[in-house]
Amino acid sequence: MNRETIDRLSAEIGELKCATRKDVEEARVRYLGKKGEITALFEEFRSIAPDLKKEFGRVLNELKQAATAKIEELRASVDDNASPQGPKEDLSMPGDPMELGSRHPVSIVRQEIVDIFRKFGYDVAEGPEIEDDHHVFEALNFPPNHPARDMQDTFFVSTGHINPLLLRTHTSSVQVRAMEQMPLPIRVICPGRVFRNEAISARAHCIFHQVEGLYVDEGVTFADLKQAILLFAREMFGPETEIRMRPSYFPFTEPSAEVDVSCNICKGKGCNICKGTGWLEILGCGMVDPNVLEASGIDSHKYSGFAFGMGLERIAMLKWRVNDLRHYFENDLRFLREFATSVEV
Ligand code: PHE
Repeated sequence: MNRETIDRLSAEIGELKCATRKDVEEARVRYLGKKGEITALFEEFRSIAPDLKKEFGRVLNELKQAATAKIEELRASVDDNASPQGPKEDLSMPGDPMELGSRHPVSIVRQEIVDIFRKFGYDVAEGPEIEDDHHVFEALNFPPNHPARDMQDTFFVSTGHINPLLLRTHTSSVQVRAMEQMPLPIRVICPGRVFRNEAISARAHCIFHQVEGLYVDEGVTFADLKQAILLFAREMFGPETEIRMRPSYFPFTEPSAEVDVSCNICKGKGCNICKGTGWLEILGCGMVDPNVLEASGIDSHKYSGFAFGMGLERIAMLKWRVNDLRHYFENDLRFLREFATSVEV
């Protein structure tokens, strides 16, 4: 053992340069491996004279530490794939594509309907989904034993109360709130989620969406209702659309009607969408029953009004010829992506 060997190794290691991981590994083996030069010096150290141990012990340890640090430093600086200079990432690489979401078909239809009625001068009103018996039934002239008030048809949140809480079965409840609160004349549409205790199938669901509308003023007639619905149908389904009204019954309107639009797929000739009839049912409507106006504090001798209500899933089904209502609730991306062209940025 001599100082020259140690100094030579120290200088050599200080100057070491490596381009690849392989070079670094080879340098490690050469100096620090089992048969490496520094390891050999430690072997030799065991048998030197005790008076030399103190001096050589210190320099040998320093040499080993310096070599270990140098190898670490070299290991960190090399990368087999990248060029020796420049950043490790390829900044020119295109980014991962970010998928744009699209509007849900029910939202698209709701927006279209809201836009049409806004043009006619209607305001949009919203109300609570958890409602009381008064706003969903009582104020709308439902008799106490009406089947809609049964547990079979309505989801109750609390029962055994004079005015139990329940999930609204239609957004007519928002119309009652409008009649109670808004100054006359009233022109509102009420979009929202409604709930009915139905078995889920291709044609029914326990949750769906409605837009209902209400117009109350002096001298409102059935002719006004018919004209409003006709204008709406032509905006929604095309300028050639015809409507027809069939007598119907709702506790809160008198007279009441169900409205069909001419099938815009076969132009009234009859196809499998309209089941050969040439007509598609889209909404229920009628003149607000005087009892309903009075229940909300409106003088039924001075004022009259009309109301209408439609299911958004049904209209979306007709518009896009979807044959199973459940698609709207399952959020299968393959279904939702069909509407991606309707994205609004
Ligand atoms: N509320 C009725 C329903 O949910 C729809 C409707 C509204 C009918 C207004 C007539 C007038 O089926």
